[in-house]
Amino acid sequence: MTQPATGLAPHPGLAGTYQREVAASLARVWENVLDWEHLPALHEGQFHSISLVDSGPWGWRARVLNQPGAGAAQIIEVRIDRDAGRYVSATLEGPGAGSEVRTQLEALAPDRTRVSVAFHVPVADPARLALIGDRYRAIYARLWDEDEAMMVHRERALAQRRERRETQGETLVLGPPEVVRTAVPLLVEFAGERFRVIDLDGELVVHAATCPHWLGPLDQAPVRDGCVRCPWHDYAFDVRTGQSADGRKLSLATPPNLVLREGVLTLVSA
Ligand code: FES
Ligand SMILES: [Fe+2]
Repeated sequence: MTQPATGLAPHPGLAGTYQREVAASLARVWENVLDWEHLPALHEGQFHSISLVDSGPWGWRARVLNQPGAGAAQIIEVRIDRDAGRYVSATLEGPGAGSEVRTQLEALAPDRTRVSVAFHVPVADPARLALIGDRYRAIYARLWDEDEAMMVHRERALAQRRERRETQGETLVLGPPEVVRTAVPLLVEFAGERFRVIDLDGELVVHAATCPHWLGPLDQAPVRDGCVRCPWHDYAFDVRTGQSADGRKLSLATPPNLVLREGVLTLVSA
């Protein structure tokens, strides 16, 4: 069995371990480990908000709140040792201070990585340690489920992006307006890209269903006040203009035009 991150200073209380394989490359997993920004959006059940304190090739340190208004914030530091395939997530301040989650990664195949996690907490009582270990295992199973789904989706989206083609002159017939109106929100693939047709205050609007940040899925994301928010890092976009709604230098891909031709709504490349 692969040992969880060792070679570190001895640390009190091994509360438990968790092992699994994820259907993602080692590169994708490292990307995920360094991606502090996804915690409150993708793992909203576990994290409420995060603000970065410091980051670098060594990892990152951030201030984290687990629930809205939940007392003291935690300072969490993720320190990586890429060559050794391991990283440590340490709680430096706040609830759980002194805990370390040590993770060992191992590439099993180009799209498969083994993850071995050990939960260390500054607790001596064996009964309490066992309880804490159970809780950690349940939390980490869910976190890795969510991370794996994101990584698999991103890998697929990157492959599709590489195959993107010219769209000039393409059209796609959607149908008569009254039929389209009953079908919205409607997902369509147009020239290798995904778009969503929605009814926004009575107006049919087409917007890209792929986030320009890390290619996150906007297919199911709710639209509020004319803005769609990505489920991966919570970036917001105005669906009418495609522009960032939160000051980021990103915008949605230009959608095809929706035109009425001979009584049927048709998408025409912009
Ligand atoms: S992929 Fe990061 S905000 Fe959408
Ligand atoms: Fe995650």
